[in-house]
Amino acid sequence: MRSESEQPESDNPFTIPVATRVLRLPPYLFGKINALKHKKRVAGVDVIDLGMGNPTDPPDPMIIEKLTEAVADPRNHRYSVSTGVENLRREVGKRYWKRYGVRIDPNDEVVACIGSKEGFSHLCLALMGPGDTAIVPAPSFPVHVYAVALASGNVIALDVRDPEQFLANIDYTCTHLYPKPKLVIVNFPHNPSATVIEQDFYVELVRLAKKHGFLVISDFAYADICFEGYQAPSFLATPGAFEVGVEFTTMSKGYSMAGWRIGFCAGNAEMCRALATIKGYYDYGIFQPVQIAAIVAMRNCDAAVESIAEEYHRRRDVLCDGLERLGWEIERPRAGMFIWAKIPEPWAQMGSIDFAMKLLDEVGVAVSPGRGFGEEGEGYLRMAIVENEQRLRQAVRQIGRCMKQEVEQP
Ligand SMILES: Cc1ncc(COP(=O)(O)O)c(C=O)c1O
Repeated sequence: MRSESEQPESDNPFTIPVATRVLRLPPYLFGKINALKHKKRVAGVDVIDLGMGNPTDPPDPMIIEKLTEAVADPRNHRYSVSTGVENLRREVGKRYWKRYGVRIDPNDEVVACIGSKEGFSHLCLALMGPGDTAIVPAPSFPVHVYAVALASGNVIALDVRDPEQFLANIDYTCTHLYPKPKLVIVNFPHNPSATVIEQDFYVELVRLAKKHGFLVISDFAYADICFEGYQAPSFLATPGAFEVGVEFTTMSKGYSMAGWRIGFCAGNAEMCRALATIKGYYDYGIFQPVQIAAIVAMRNCDAAVESIAEEYHRRRDVLCDGLERLGWEIERPRAGMFIWAKIPEPWAQMGSIDFAMKLLDEVGVAVSPGRGFGEEGEGYLRMAIVENEQRLRQAVRQIGRCMKQEVEQP
């Protein structure tokens, strides 16, 4: 605490020299819109928040009950194991077997993480260093870029929206860049663009990984949220995948456990070991009751996961129907929690950041401007379908009002 006599000397300020790894982070383009959202809320505005993929529904009651029971057990308050308790890792293996026919050794090929974001970032730190390059999907989920930058690596962002072209560009980049990229990050169903792929994509990716010698990290955060019979394939279900890479899954989305902070890295044993080594220095693992409740969730809550996916499906249709009625051209996503919406003219000319600010400022609807996901995102908004159907209908009405005002202005 600063004492009253201790006033800062303005003519000779003491500077805090933060590390270069912090200074070289790209600018955070959601800062302006987050600040306005906060201001609106403080002023009492009921913001309809489609900004972040942060589920608003609670997890299945059985999961909460198990957590409560485990919290009451005095044995569960000590430091846990950094890589996750054995029964949890085993449950992840069982789930991969049941859903994707993939056999995983829970001892060497699974690491539990404090959310997949933590695991992903620390794995980048374990794999990347100065002079190393990673290929990341563009438009980019910011963490995919930041984690590589924080690990002192360089980023090449390749447009992911045409998956075949994405593969061809990976091949081209690896052929012509020296030294070759060390890591390729993939994320299907993709955030933010909602691009999906079939298993043959991964067959080609594994072939390219072996040809060029790069490692693969698959971020499979939206594995559980698929619509109309589409089943998102697992990278690990591809022959040869375990030789070249790992996959991250999470309890945040399909189980609505985002705040609980629990996810998993599975696949190549050496990459898992590298992640476990880094984590061993940084953390003491996830609170044990959370791990115990996660085991129960994976064992017993398939029906709850299905019903969460159905809910997102209904919300998708409510929001897409509404935007189409307003004249937006919408491609309905087959998976994930986001509508990647092309901004209609003349509003697209404003730029996605200004248009998102306008929607928030004038009608209290918060969305993420596409530009926040890199240059490839300009001209788009990302809308998270995390509010209920009634609130989404309200959001459409308010967006319509905002657009009408604009048209009616002389
Ligand atoms: C693509 C992607 N990966 C990872 C995460 C983070 O998930 P977790 O809550 O497991 O850290 C998100 C969350 O928004 C995401 O969209």
